[in-house]
Amino acid sequence: MRHLPATLLLLLSSCLQATNASTSKSFLSESLVKKNQVQSVLEHEPAKAPSCHEPPTGPIETTLCDYETVESLNDDLFSNLSDLVKTPFFKYFRVDLYRECPFWHENGLCMNRECSITTVDESEIPEKWRAAALSEVEMPSEDQRKTMPGCYYRDCDFCYLDDMTEGDYVDLSRNPERFTGYIGPSAHRVWNAIYQENCFGIPEINSPTGKTRTHDSFTDPLPQDELESGGGQCLEKKVYYKIISGLHASITTHICAEYFNQTTGEWGPNLDCFANRVAAHPERLQYIYFNTVLLLRAVSRIGPYLSEYDYCSSGTHEEDLETLTKLGKVIDIAQTVGKFDESVLFQGEDADILKDEFKAHFRNVTRIMDCVGCDKCRLWGKVQTTGVATALKILFELDEAALDPKSNLNLLSRSEVVALVTTLYRFSESLHAVNDFRRIWAETNSADASRLIEEVEKATTPSRVCPSHLSVGLT
Ligand SMILES: Cc1cc2nc3c(=O)[nH]c(=O)nc-3n(C[C@H](O)[C@H](O)[C@H](O)COP(=O)(O)OP(=O)(O)OC[C@H]3O[C@@H](n4cnc5c(N)ncnc54)[C@H](O)[C@@H]3O)c2cc1C
Ligand SMILES: *[C@@H]1O[C@H](CO)[C@@H](O)[C@H](O)[C@H]1NC(C)=O
Ligand SMILES: *[C@@H]1O[C@H](CO)[C@@H](O)[C@H](O)[C@H]1NC(C)=O
Ligand SMILES: *[C@@H]1O[C@H](CO)[C@@H](O)[C@H](O)[C@H]1NC(C)=O
Repeated sequence: MRHLPATLLLLLSSCLQATNASTSKSFLSESLVKKNQVQSVLEHEPAKAPSCHEPPTGPIETTLCDYETVESLNDDLFSNLSDLVKTPFFKYFRVDLYRECPFWHENGLCMNRECSITTVDESEIPEKWRAAALSEVEMPSEDQRKTMPGCYYRDCDFCYLDDMTEGDYVDLSRNPERFTGYIGPSAHRVWNAIYQENCFGIPEINSPTGKTRTHDSFTDPLPQDELESGGGQCLEKKVYYKIISGLHASITTHICAEYFNQTTGEWGPNLDCFANRVAAHPERLQYIYFNTVLLLRAVSRIGPYLSEYDYCSSGTHEEDLETLTKLGKVIDIAQTVGKFDESVLFQGEDADILKDEFKAHFRNVTRIMDCVGCDKCRLWGKVQTTGVATALKILFELDEAALDPKSNLNLLSRSEVVALVTTLYRFSESLHAVNDFRRIWAETNSADASRLIEEVEKATTPSRVCPSHLSVGLT
C-alpha cells in the first residue's frame, strides 16, 4: 500500500475505526468526545508548533498532526488574510441577492428579510436594533463604484455563479458576517434542505433494520455509534457531510462571536451561544478544521496560478504589489499545511457517477442560497458556498496541466478567486474566535461555568443528518 498522506487519513479516519485513540485526550483525536464536551473544547490548548515533523505513523497521530499544524499557523494565516481581504480586488464580490427561491415559494413562506422570527419582541426596541436593519446589505455608493475592479463570468463546476448581467458589487468589508436575528422556521428550512442534499447516491431510505425513515425534522438524531463508524457510508458522502456541517458550524461561530443583544444594543461574543451550538458538539469544530485544510489544500494547489492572476484591475501598481505580497504569504502557509491527497476520492467503480452526483448536489446547495430569508445571510451564504465549490473544483476537476497559469490563464473567474480566499478567511477567523472563547471561558467564575454546563446539558440538540447515514452505501 502506498503511503497515505496526512489529511487523507483524516478523511478516512472514521472508517478506520481507530483503536488507539485513547493516547490523546484532545478533542481533536479521532474518537468522539462523549463526556465533558464543552470543557474539552474550551480547555483545549492550541498547539504552538506542529508536534510531528517526521512522516506520521498512523491515522490518529496524522490527524492530530494536521490539525495541530493548522492551529500553530492560524495566527499568521489569519493576520495575513485579514489584510488581504481588505484590498480592492478581494473586498468586492459580485452577487445577485434578489433571485427568487426556486424551490418553495409556492407555499407562501416569505423570503424577504422582514419575515424571520427574532429572538425578542421587536415592537419595543429601536428600529436599528431590529432584525430587518441587522440583515440589510449596504450597497456601494457611486464614488466607490468608480474604483471597482472589472469582472468576467465563467462557468463554475460545483456552483452556480450569479450571471454577469445581473447582480451588484457588494463591499464585503462593510457588511461583516455576524448576528442578524435571522432564526426560526425559514432558517431551519434552508439548513434542512442543505443537509438533504447529503442524501445522494445508492439506496437511500432503507436503514439496516429495513425500516423506512423519513427525513423531515432536526430531532432525528444520528446515533453516536453511527457517526463514529461512519454507518457504512462511502468516503465521499462523509466528506460531503463534513463540509456542510463544518460550514454550518463556522457560520454559527461567527454569529456567536459577534452577537448582538437586541435588548441592550450591545455587540460582543456570546459564550452561551458558542457552548450550546458548537462546543457541545466537538465534531462540529473538527469539521471547521477539516474545511480549513480542504481550502488550504486548494489554495496550495492553485498557488502558482494565483500568483500569476491578473490583479491589475484593482487600480495602481503599488496596490497590486501589496495584494500579491500578502497573497504570497497565504500561499506559503497553505503549502505548509494544505497537505491532502484528493486523488483518493472518486476512485471506485462508480466514481464518475458519484462525482457527477456530488457536483449536482453541491450545485443545488448554491441554488438553495437564494432561499435564505435575510439579505446579509444570503450574501455570506453565497460567498462561502461558492468558495467551497471552487475548492472542490480545484481539487477534483482540474489536472496539473489545467493548472498551468501560462496555458490556462482563464481558469478561474474573479468571483471564484475572491470567494475561495474569502471563505478561507472565514474559516480561519472561526478558529481564531474559538481561542477568544477559550479565554472568556478561562475567566468565567466557577459558579457561572457550572450553570452554563448545566444549561448546555439540558438544551443540546442533535446534529442534523441525512437518513442515508443509516443506509448501506458504497463500499
Ligand atoms: C446559509 C445561511 C446563512 C446564515 N447566515 C446567518 C448570519 O450571517 N447571521 C445570523 O445571525 N444568522 C444566519 N443564519 C441563521 C443561522 O444559521 C441559524 O439558523 C439561526 O441562528 C438559528 O439557529 P438555531 O440555534 O435554531 O440552529 P441552526 O443553526 O439553525 O441549526 C438547526 C439545527 O441543525 C442542527 N445543527 C446545528 N449546527 C449543526 C452542525 N454544525 N452540524 C450538524 N447539525 C447542526 C441542530 O439540530 C440545530 O438545531 C444563516 C442561515 C443560513 C441557512
Ligand atoms: C503573515 O505571515 C508571516 C509568515 O508567513 C508572518 O511572519 C507575519 O507576521 C504574518 N502577518 C502579517 C500581518 O504579515
Ligand atoms: C435541490 O434542492 C431542492 C430543495 O431541497 C429540492 O427540492 C430539489 O429536488 C433538489 N434538486 C436536486 C437536483 O437535487
Ligand atoms: C441581553 O442583555 C441583558 C441585560 O444584560 C441580559 O439579561 C440578557 O440575557 C441578554 N440577552 C442575550 C440573548 O444575551
